Amino acid sequence: MSPQPAWWKEGVVYQIYPRSFQDSNGDGIGDIPGIISRLDEIAALGVRVIWLSPVYKSPQVDNGYDISDYYSIDPIFGSMEDMDRLISGAKKRNIGIVMDLVINHTSDEHEWFQKSRRREDPYTDYYIWHKSKNNWTSFFMEDCWEYDDLRGEYYLHLFHKKQPDLNYKNPLVYDEVKNILQFWLDKGIAGFRCDVINVIWKTSLADGKKSIMLTGLEHYKCQEGNHDILQRLRKDVLSNYDCFTVGEAVMINLEEARLLSNEDRQELDMVFYFDHLEVDRRFARFFPKKFSAAQLLQRLTKWQQGLDWNAIYLENHDQTRIVSHYGDDSGAGEKDSPWERSAKLLAVLQFTLRGTPFVYQGQEIGMTNFDFSSFDQVKDIETHNLSRLMKKLGFPAWLRWKWLKLSSRDNTRTPFQWTAGKGAGFNTEQSWLGINANHTKLNYESQQNDADSVLSFYKKMINLRKSSEVLKYGDFKPLVATNKLLIYSRESSGEAYITACNFSGKCIKLNSEARVLLQGTLAVSNIGRTEWNASQARLEAWEAVVLKV
Ligand code: NOJ
Repeated sequence: MSPQPAWWKEGVVYQIYPRSFQDSNGDGIGDIPGIISRLDEIAALGVRVIWLSPVYKSPQVDNGYDISDYYSIDPIFGSMEDMDRLISGAKKRNIGIVMDLVINHTSDEHEWFQKSRRREDPYTDYYIWHKSKNNWTSFFMEDCWEYDDLRGEYYLHLFHKKQPDLNYKNPLVYDEVKNILQFWLDKGIAGFRCDVINVIWKTSLADGKKSIMLTGLEHYKCQEGNHDILQRLRKDVLSNYDCFTVGEAVMINLEEARLLSNEDRQELDMVFYFDHLEVDRRFARFFPKKFSAAQLLQRLTKWQQGLDWNAIYLENHDQTRIVSHYGDDSGAGEKDSPWERSAKLLAVLQFTLRGTPFVYQGQEIGMTNFDFSSFDQVKDIETHNLSRLMKKLGFPAWLRWKWLKLSSRDNTRTPFQWTAGKGAGFNTEQSWLGINANHTKLNYESQQNDADSVLSFYKKMINLRKSSEVLKYGDFKPLVATNKLLIYSRESSGEAYITACNFSGKCIKLNSEARVLLQGTLAVSNIGRTEWNASQARLEAWEAVVLKV
């Protein structure tokens, strides 16, 4: 079935992690005036939406995912006037702003929690309080119950202890959330990215089945009550606005994702799942295993064909850089290096899949994982918790560092590399997190006017997708997959594009099956090829082609 057209299906979303994007006042932390000063660069990329990671008032224990006031802006990011200027400045460029909606938990410094601790009505039951603990574990690999002396009870926190979970069994909590949505939509925003949205309803607090990943999950993942809340929010608020929602859905399978996002369910418009980024990882993204392009195609196919609509992302603030992950970042910043070829190949992949593409800041210039040399440089609380746990389990320091480097969320959080100069053009003094030394070669400025740069290639791919109904809405069909090669098509009413990607640094000789499939006119080459002749029968190292057939 062909999907219902919608503006948010046709446009590209650009994710900004505000503290690392552009610092305007020299305090080392990116801010909203900084984003405003870069709106022209964002518009030049050709995106339709900006998703802002949280800028609300927050103690910043989890970089803003711990909100202490949903109605004000944290002073480190600016003021509400700045926010209004950002919304209107973006609007002038036909760009909508999507806010991050964090409603599974608040900060413990939120007024609701402070009053709840003191049993002040109506806040007494805003959070999940209990006389004793159960055996659940938290997403941040620690105990998920904290004893509060003042109240004389434990409270649940599925994330950090400074992020207490809200109690959706209390109807007043639903009303508060409704008001938050309404407030921001009335300001003219274009929708919400909903944080860990499939775990907000806790059916029971009984002990969970023991699991090395997360004990207790079966009591709160994708519960009926969760669906009910999403349907009500849609009906009561979201359906009155021209907006969209994308929900981050943790530990989710296809069936659960269908229930959350298929059109007839009237819950979310799309979900972020993780499956396609874990082809070479065990236990979420924490431990490595071998990559296989065949596995990647198999996983992509499952979701591409299984959902009404997909959110296509390869990076975000919780992941690692895709060019360091599925590509090869050697020669970062250099012409025709494995870095340049593979960064472009990954753009080919992203913009020829079916769904709304989400580009994470810096991805469009091929930013790489951080180059930290010691654990002291790491700021992320999740990485610190994992390190403590691994130490407790007896893993040696070298192995801890090897794995943490591979998985740390700080990999994508290093400041944006605008220039080759001091502070990478992000700021002039000390930045809150280290700046990758490769900014002297890999930066926005050097790519901006270079027609062959990774940045220009992103623009080209975004334009190609924009100009083609087949690439936007056509069906997805897997064609060939081996360890290093994947080929698929997008088709609709007799028109088709075929994409072939060589996920390796070695040339691949095409077999007769692939040669028969790869007939067509070259629409895109990531290595500067000007024409395609299938009888040539090879794809060069990290080569990707898109053919029109
Ligand atoms: C998911 C967010 O993306 C992540 O950054 C955060 O730590 C957790 N949710 C908790 O809010």
